[in-house]
Amino acid sequence: MSSSYLEGTRRSGKLFERAKKVFAGGVNHNARFYQPYPLFVSRAEAQHIWDADGTKYTDYWMGHMALILGHSPKPVVDALRGQIGHGTHYGMGSGLSVELAEEIQLAVPCAEMMRFCNTGAEATMYLVRLARGYTGKRTVIKMAGGWHGYNTELNKGVHRPFDRSESAGILEEEQAFVKNVRFNDLGAAERAVKEAEGDAALIFLEPVLGAGGCVPAEPDYLKGLRELADRHGALLAFDEIITGFRVSLGGAQGFYGVTPDLASFGKIAGGGLPLGLVAGRKEVLSLADPTRKESFVSIGGGTFSENPLSMAAGLATVRHLRKHAGSIYPKLDKAGRDTRKAVDKAFAAEGVDAHTTGLGSLFLTHFGVAPKDAQESARGDKDARLGYCLELMARGIFILPGHPGGISTCHTPQDLKKLAVESGKFAASLPRAK
Ligand SMILES: Cc1ncc(COP(=O)(O)O)c(C=O)c1O
Repeated sequence: MSSSYLEGTRRSGKLFERAKKVFAGGVNHNARFYQPYPLFVSRAEAQHIWDADGTKYTDYWMGHMALILGHSPKPVVDALRGQIGHGTHYGMGSGLSVELAEEIQLAVPCAEMMRFCNTGAEATMYLVRLARGYTGKRTVIKMAGGWHGYNTELNKGVHRPFDRSESAGILEEEQAFVKNVRFNDLGAAERAVKEAEGDAALIFLEPVLGAGGCVPAEPDYLKGLRELADRHGALLAFDEIITGFRVSLGGAQGFYGVTPDLASFGKIAGGGLPLGLVAGRKEVLSLADPTRKESFVSIGGGTFSENPLSMAAGLATVRHLRKHAGSIYPKLDKAGRDTRKAVDKAFAAEGVDAHTTGLGSLFLTHFGVAPKDAQESARGDKDARLGYCLELMARGIFILPGHPGGISTCHTPQDLKKLAVESGKFAASLPRAK
């Protein structure tokens, strides 16, 4: 346990004691809990957050990686200020949602049509329903370690042993047709399709496995899955909730040059406000048209769907990204590549077996493993990683323990250099260092 963390975060500790009395486990998202207790934030700006004790951190968690332009970027703040004067919730369509959808259509290869909702978990739930409705088949093949939000069907096989429900209270029947296979292993997906005996509706994956270790797909793997789905009349879908508008303007499908039938988005697409989105081929999305008489797929409830504040923030963000894509993405890619390399070098210099995975501006440091999938990632030293993240916090850098970091356009070369330098100091302080 880092004593400097405890000493420096007393107010967060006190808030956590109060939070435990009102929230189960003291948190409102399970990923936000870490030992001994999580930081509580008092404000955020650009690449920085301030905790309840007033301590400033360079933030790499960036609101679950949703904030590619940093905290409260000017285009988003201006758009929100303007929108608040025009209403905060319509419960009706508006020009804003059409404009945001048109921007997304321009950027994302598969997005012939789409539907907005409010969370990623909702988007992935809709995506599964669309795939089953379109194909008339049942089996969903997802990846071991693949995290698609807390909806009932997909909440399976996220953690070891990678083939079980993640929760009590979910019936076995509700997940009976969801199979988990090893990521980056085409043969495993082929076997699962074969075992489904003509019943494979959907092959669904994050092109960069997020919670499963921030592991990018190997280039031929996605092409192989595309061909596999086509051969067997299944749909291929990407969960781009992390990778969308991050690894390229067109997301991972733009980056890898493989177009799925469907994709889920969230995070960046909402510009820091709540948003989920399912996009894909017109033929599939058309099943959700409420005037349809046959094979109607009921997606798109949601009191707050296409909420004008989310639309305004999303539009300001996606438009800014499109206008500046030529400079933003090469810079973010270089920042990510350099950071992964510099952090690994800092650890290697102290004889510590650490490897930083990721793609574009995403990164996650593993101890004792250089994973290609969630099984390998799970074998990494979790205590070392928690110790690393707590030490970084004590040195003014915030990475949520166990989760990828996301570099924003606000992070400076000095910020990134500091991350590598402080990683090296942490490495030097370890007993196993040479
Ligand atoms: C890949 C992926 N899918 C789905 C989700 C769920 O999104 P939400 O938290 O908005 O429900 C997340 C959230 O972190 C995610 O990373």
